[in-house]
Amino acid sequence: MKKELNANYWNDRYLQADTPWDIGGIAPALKAYFDQLSKKDLRILIPGAGKSHEAIYLHQQGFLQVFVLDWAPEAFALLRQAAPDFPERHFLVCDFFELQGSFDLIVEQTFFCAIDPALRGDYAKKVAELLAPGGQLIGLLFAQPFPFPGPPFGGTKAEYETIFQPFFTKVEIEESALSIKPRMGNELWVRLGQG
Ligand SMILES: C[S@@+](CC[C@H](N)C(=O)[O-])C[C@H]1O[C@@H](n2cnc3c(N)ncnc32)[C@H](O)[C@@H]1O
Repeated sequence: MKKELNANYWNDRYLQADTPWDIGGIAPALKAYFDQLSKKDLRILIPGAGKSHEAIYLHQQGFLQVFVLDWAPEAFALLRQAAPDFPERHFLVCDFFELQGSFDLIVEQTFFCAIDPALRGDYAKKVAELLAPGGQLIGLLFAQPFPFPGPPFGGTKAEYETIFQPFFTKVEIEESALSIKPRMGNELWVRLGQG
């Protein structure tokens, strides 16, 4: 039977400490990208943020407008502990597909691979709606399908281009040069935006 990938499913996985996707720190490719940003007031959204290592890092670096979104409230235990002064109103405990707002940067890190593949077009549409003019999504996607039922659900560069091209004029997808060892060769660096 197909798993129902709802908020309870994900929240239970945090409660059971069954979080094999958690790499225990910020992904090197994301750190390298964040380290070259100078505007500390960029409105940054991290959807499906989970334990939010990226948010902890950005917060420590002085970024002021970092928003984490996850519909599993248990996911945020680490962020609350590691960054007690992270603003309460920057925790968005809701369904990504229901979010309204405007962001300069959206960060992808094992969220796209966690949603039902039937919703990938909706993800692309939602990201396009949430980006402010000149904004972009950056992040990592798996480069291959997985030989087992997901989540995670993988894919190929060609599949991703087909999904994103109807919604973005800029779709740049390349092999990631900065992956952690277990994901080396199986990650793509993606940039989506308009213009
Ligand atoms: C595989 S985990 C990745 C977490 C984190 N990005 C990481 O790399 O450790 C996927 C996360 O997306 C969240 N999620 C899945 N679908 C969601 C939705 N529709 N709205 C909000 N959060 C969602 C889950 O609760 C889970 O925390």
